[in-house]
Amino acid sequence: MFSRPLTPDQRRILDTLNVAAQPMDEMFAVRLERHFGELYEGLTAVYPDPKTMLGPLLEIMRQHYRERPADLKRLDLERTLAKDWFQRPEMIGYVCYTERFAGSFKGVEKKLDYLQSLGVTYLHLMPFLKPRPAPNDGGYAVMDYRSVREDLGTMDDLQSLATKLRQAGISLCCDLVLNHVAQEHEWAVKARLGDPKYQRYFYMFKDRTLPDQYERTLPEIFPDFAPGNFTWDAQAQRWVWTTFNAWQWDLNWANPEVFLEFADLILWLANKGIEVFRLDAIAFIWKRMGTNCQNQPEVHAITQALRAVARIVAPAVLFKAEAIVAPDDLIQYLGQGVHFGLVSDTAYHNSLMVQIWSSLASRDTRLMAQALRGFPSKPYTTAWNTYLRCHDDIGWAIADDDAAAVGLSGEAHRRFLSDYYSGRFPGSQARGLVFQENPRTGDRRISGSGASLAGLEQALEHGDMQGANLALERLLLGYAIVLGFGGIPLLYMGDELALLNDYRYLEEPEHAMDNRWVHRPRMDWAKAHRAQSDPHSIEGRMYHALRHLIAVRKSTPHFHASIEAEILEPKNPHVFAYVRRHPLGNLVALYNFSEEPQYYPLGQLAERGLTQPFDRISAKSIAVSGGLVRLEPFARLWLTQGEG
Ligand code: GLC
Repeated sequence: MFSRPLTPDQRRILDTLNVAAQPMDEMFAVRLERHFGELYEGLTAVYPDPKTMLGPLLEIMRQHYRERPADLKRLDLERTLAKDWFQRPEMIGYVCYTERFAGSFKGVEKKLDYLQSLGVTYLHLMPFLKPRPAPNDGGYAVMDYRSVREDLGTMDDLQSLATKLRQAGISLCCDLVLNHVAQEHEWAVKARLGDPKYQRYFYMFKDRTLPDQYERTLPEIFPDFAPGNFTWDAQAQRWVWTTFNAWQWDLNWANPEVFLEFADLILWLANKGIEVFRLDAIAFIWKRMGTNCQNQPEVHAITQALRAVARIVAPAVLFKAEAIVAPDDLIQYLGQGVHFGLVSDTAYHNSLMVQIWSSLASRDTRLMAQALRGFPSKPYTTAWNTYLRCHDDIGWAIADDDAAAVGLSGEAHRRFLSDYYSGRFPGSQARGLVFQENPRTGDRRISGSGASLAGLEQALEHGDMQGANLALERLLLGYAIVLGFGGIPLLYMGDELALLNDYRYLEEPEHAMDNRWVHRPRMDWAKAHRAQSDPHSIEGRMYHALRHLIAVRKSTPHFHASIEAEILEPKNPHVFAYVRRHPLGNLVALYNFSEEPQYYPLGQLAERGLTQPFDRISAKSIAVSGGLVRLEPFARLWLTQGEG
């Protein structure tokens, strides 16, 4: 990140603060000095009177700094010296629901060896802060950010788990829902009772005048279960802004009190051992009339200020943006212009995920190459979170322009993908479910596990072993890209065993309505054991092949996330190719998206310095005669020069 000198004005304000305060720990003082400019700039861009926020904010920061445990302070120091710690090829993420993976926090402690055998260094446990009673959007409706779900354990258990994970070299990631709280949260309860202080924490309206005006430009996130963006609250006699479900109340970030609450909360959780904050639905936190109320500039100024707070008190901490938005908007979350390198450290690469599924369906990589080649480049201090599946549905974020550039209609291609992955398209092997069909826009999002979308469920049902093989190859191809693109790859629990859709959600009253639960399976430990003991079983093949890819990635310096993948022009429409230019030499990755063998010109490799291409995955040299590389069906190659 670039550092900027303080302006004379900022210097004066900081000096006044220092003088007024009690003696400061030297480390704290140095970091405050270092990041004060970023903090103050962020606040000034959003709040009319930032100076009045500094007193209480500094108090919060000092308190948490004082209380920060010694082992975390040491981690702070380590990471200030090795700022690229999260960009290294050794980083491997794993995402799971605590209860579905291991029952409880204590249960997760017992599964550390499993995570370590996969090479995991980063663990995202799905929402575990105390949610409202079901329904609660899989925990994304939090009623108390300072306690945890009772069925998972206590705060002490969480803290102990975080410590054990850290000792095992695994960073714990926690969801931080910034946009809304449950209507049962203390702030909302007080607001409902008419307390004006807390009514200012939310967007509440006496009548429909303003809500109607906002609605003109607002999209609907859950058109099926929660149409509209406002909900009438009979108790408060007000319309409340509720972007997601009616019981998820949007917070008013224009209120400085809300900022202070979250600064306090982040530091408090960081002191419990949380190392990564997944900033849930961050795109939505600022509202502006006449817009879709997403990606507003204030979002980035607020993030910058919060990030500076964390950098001063707990620099070991990482921010991860959950912004599923268009590329030009997305890149802002990693910092552009004045925010370069000053906001989130990582962000989900939604487009890469969508394009992998799109190319698997079409067997054609031209749209993928077009979309990813046009992708804005990210700050070198940040990293993408690459993934193939997550707990959410897949929305077909295919830009019309990109589609047109390769001779497709965006609308028709999106329709094709929904048809394909819901199994309606003739010849499709996928078993997905349509999520949130929107008749107004024609949108049909897709739920389903990676393996079921890749065709494994259908193949097994038909006893089609060749189909099952192809499905595994598809899944491995997808994961090879996730692991080899650059960034923090996120393995979604169950994919390492090729777990299928889990239809039991239909019998669970609190889940039956929301088919995203079809791809939120329970861990199948019997399969996990079989995978380890029988490498020829389906799960064993997936598990061992994935573990091998992980091991190769970890020993390949070219995957450091400071470097970006440069997408190559598709010389063969079925082959996706990119180069990663590293000081040690180039790495070219090739992926065959079709069921047929394909050929790729060797000249393309030679032009990038690979005259003796060596595939790091198979640990074999590539035959250089004949001018073409042969790629087996769904082959993936990570090529470097010689045997390096
Ligand atoms: C994020 C979560 C999603 C949730 C939404 C509202 O998009 O990933 O599961 O429904 O935020 O909190």
